[in-house]
Amino acid sequence: MESVASAPGKTILFGEHAVVYNQPAIAAAVDKRAIVTIKDNPKGVTTFRSDDLGFEAELDTRKKTYKLIKGKPGIIRYVLEILNKWHDEHTPIDVKLSLNIPIGSGLGSSAAVTVATLAALYNYTGFPFNKRVLANEAHKIEQSVQGMASPLDTAVSTFGGLVYLSREKEISKFNTDIKSNFVIGYTNKKGNTGQIVKSVKFLKNKHPRILDSIIKTIGKATDEAKDALMTDNNSKLGELMNINQGLLDSLGINTYELSRMIYTARGNGAIGAKITGAGGGGSILALVPKNAEKVFNALKVEDNALIAKITQKGALAK
Ligand code: PMV
Repeated sequence: MESVASAPGKTILFGEHAVVYNQPAIAAAVDKRAIVTIKDNPKGVTTFRSDDLGFEAELDTRKKTYKLIKGKPGIIRYVLEILNKWHDEHTPIDVKLSLNIPIGSGLGSSAAVTVATLAALYNYTGFPFNKRVLANEAHKIEQSVQGMASPLDTAVSTFGGLVYLSREKEISKFNTDIKSNFVIGYTNKKGNTGQIVKSVKFLKNKHPRILDSIIKTIGKATDEAKDALMTDNNSKLGELMNINQGLLDSLGINTYELSRMIYTARGNGAIGAKITGAGGGGSILALVPKNAEKVFNALKVEDNALIAKITQKGALAK
């Protein structure tokens, strides 16, 4: 018996940080995926392997421990948590991961791996599930591994497409798409999301009136972006991304490298460019209607980059 499932990574278009203070957010699934294959292991050991990431390990799913054979997989904690909780029989299996989402760049690699592993396992064990169950369970796994996680990453990875998270924390999908390319620039230095969220809180406690109004303004930019998306108004979307960037900068989460990437992207044809995710390292997102390669090549001179499109394909299992 072999089961294969996949799930996309994500990028936040609007509302990061403000979402922590109950403002809305918009995120999208991108066409970079985690693919997980599960099959029986005839030798009686449970293994977890990824050639893309260069690691191999043997797992004890009852004890949630592992023995490394090769490499160093940070992502293993999510897989152990899933197998411990959901593979009741603990029969020996091989779990194989392919991943073309950069790890630790704020592009939702852990959520994609979590969603794809859960879907592959549910399929393998014959557990009946729908996407709502999958998104909820994946969120619980992220929470137990990380201690704290927003439901946005796992929801986007499960449902795909463009997702709106309301002030009331309801998640809905837009019916529209963005045809333009995105170029994502990333550094190898991921900021620590928990610490950066705390640093914003610290600044907010110091300057409550100013920060409250900046956070509310980010929420307004997200509302306007929702309208721009529904009316296919790309140039307004780009402008709003640039406005959102200015507001994110004032929260103190920008870095020299992120700024460099943002101005490089804008200077080479991006109509909007901003930090995506927590900042302090991590990634930028640029909206590029034409000639995405030009922005990609310019970013590549000093940083890492990839060209991405929004994908409507959420989690898929077979
Ligand atoms: O670091 P990322 O890409 O997972 O983004 C974090 C987004 C924040 O709004 C900063 C935090 C959160 O939990 O929503």
